[in-house]
Amino acid sequence: MITFENVSKTYTSGSDQVAALTEVNLTIAARDIFGIIGESGSGKSTLLRMINTLEQPTQGQVKIDGVDLKQLTKQQQRQKRKEIGMIFQQFNLLYNQTVHENIALPLRLAGNYEAAKVQEVLAFVGLQNKERQYPKQLSGGEKQRVGIARALITQPKILLCDEPTSALDGQNAHDIMKLLRKINQVFGTTMIVVSHELSLIKQLCSKAAVLENGKVLEVFAITNSSQEEQYNSYYERVQENLR
Ligand SMILES: Nc1ncnc2c1ncn2[C@@H]1O[C@H](COP(=O)(O)OP(=O)(O)O)[C@@H](O)[C@H]1O
Ligand SMILES: [Mg+2]
Repeated sequence: MITFENVSKTYTSGSDQVAALTEVNLTIAARDIFGIIGESGSGKSTLLRMINTLEQPTQGQVKIDGVDLKQLTKQQQRQKRKEIGMIFQQFNLLYNQTVHENIALPLRLAGNYEAAKVQEVLAFVGLQNKERQYPKQLSGGEKQRVGIARALITQPKILLCDEPTSALDGQNAHDIMKLLRKINQVFGTTMIVVSHELSLIKQLCSKAAVLENGKVLEVFAITNSSQEEQYNSYYERVQENLR
């Protein structure tokens, strides 16, 4: 379980102070797919980056399984970070490295590289035949699959997804969502998915928080029926395009 308890974050740049988050309270259950929705600048990425300790709260506590992340030593923070994967809107791949090497990177950094592990995760994301290619030879959807495979290689308990489909077109976005859902179902990974698209959040998540100017406006549950509706309307649109 991940909890935000009265979390505020103020960035200081020069003489300017930016209140990125203000008194945020949230509870994200283990194995859940939790959505964060909000306009650009509302504090979504800041919120995500606090979960993997890339940002520290100015006030309040972020806890994972009851442990206040601020109380961890630097080494414990590094250890925690290994249990948390992250994927990005712009994929953040190394463009001078092959698909295989991009995915192997976290293993190499941890000193436990095994080619078979890379191949296993490649098969899971459906890219077994792209191993020797370079990112520039891939479609956007395929690049995001590489990003996902790189995040999965260390078997994270938590996966942070920052606008995972915002750079993708309709079909590719839909396929990536299906893959995220499969990861949740197969591995029980807790996922926090950030987006500015309500439709995406409704299709993927079981609960979501609306962020505006750094404040949580509301938290709402998403029922299966509204997810089915979304899927149906998506397929209707696809069918219409085919006609
Ligand atoms: N490192 C930083 N230094 C100063 N201001 C920042 C920094 N990161 C983000 N901000 C500001 O904090 C606010 C929230 O940013 P962010 O969390 O990136 O929002 P979102 O992901 O929803 O677009 C914005 O006003 C942004 O300009
Ligand atoms: Mg952002």
